[in-house]
Amino acid sequence: MTPSDASVVLTGAAGGLGSAIARQLKKDGATLLLVGRSAGPLLSLAQSLKGDPQNRSDVDVLVVDITTDHGRAAIIDAAAARQANVLINNAAVAAFGPAQDLQPELARRMLETNVLAPMLLTAGMLPMLCSRERAQVLNIGSTLGSVGVPGFSAYGASKAALRIYTEALRREFADSRVQIQYYAPRAIDTDFNTPQIVAFNKATGSPSDTPEAVARQVAHMLNSESRQRFAGRTEALAARLNGLFPECLDGAFGKHRRALESLKLTPGAS
Ligand SMILES: NC(=O)c1ccc[n+]([C@@H]2O[C@H](COP(=O)([O-])OP(=O)(O)OC[C@H]3O[C@@H](n4cnc5c(N)ncnc54)[C@H](OP(=O)(O)O)[C@@H]3O)[C@@H](O)[C@H]2O)c1
Repeated sequence: MTPSDASVVLTGAAGGLGSAIARQLKKDGATLLLVGRSAGPLLSLAQSLKGDPQNRSDVDVLVVDITTDHGRAAIIDAAAARQANVLINNAAVAAFGPAQDLQPELARRMLETNVLAPMLLTAGMLPMLCSRERAQVLNIGSTLGSVGVPGFSAYGASKAALRIYTEALRREFADSRVQIQYYAPRAIDTDFNTPQIVAFNKATGSPSDTPEAVARQVAHMLNSESRQRFAGRTEALAARLNGLFPECLDGAFGKHRRALESLKLTPGAS
């Protein structure tokens, strides 16, 4: 869909990638409902986007927690009022560290945010999206949802769940007006990555993209028929190869194990 026809609901809008996507889509002519938990950053983002004063629905803000039933219901109501036709499930939380250090609270919060909330929000919005002339759901995944990497076992599992959910949804809605898409970034320079993750990525030679570069890719994908995309050629190839012959890649993670050990992580670090 062309950006000027898009009325977008964007979760995690005040985050590193979310705010870059918001800026890119606004520049391209989309209208936006910015969703997040923290009012301050969301309002200042909305202010910086400076919607057309004649069009007060250009950019709107909704402060909710997507893991709650009432939070998702508020998003669905606001989306209906705005005649939304695009949902971008972008909000997520990270978990990084040795598998044995995974803490129950973080594991639950991560699975609720990264998996359950986008599934339930999508389910709630689908009837409305199906009634639009054209609509799109774009889920933001990760390379780590296609290639299991030491240190990211639980987070990778959450993104793998989102990837399979997206794939099944795409097939289920193939004959509908709703286009289902999945975009998998590699590392991005945002606060999502703790100093430990940044050190780990550096030690393992994992490349990182700017949020602006990823946001351009996301905007480009929305404007295309593309079903699934991975940032980076090497990462795209690794995802394909891992899908076919996972054992071929098993020997490639020695440096990741060593980096994980040498970081002397605190329990439950994320
Ligand atoms: N950064 C990377 O290296 C990287 C790599 C690959 C994929 N990704 C994916 O890219 C997406 C964006 O990541 P990012 O780097 O922009 O992370 P980020 O800067 O930490 O932003 C994540 C946003 O999600 C929101 N959020 C978290 N829990 C929420 C909840 N329960 N309800 C509502 N909003 C919630 C947060 O806002 P509030 O705290 O204000 O609610 C935050 O603004 C995620 O899906 C992530 O998995 C990131």
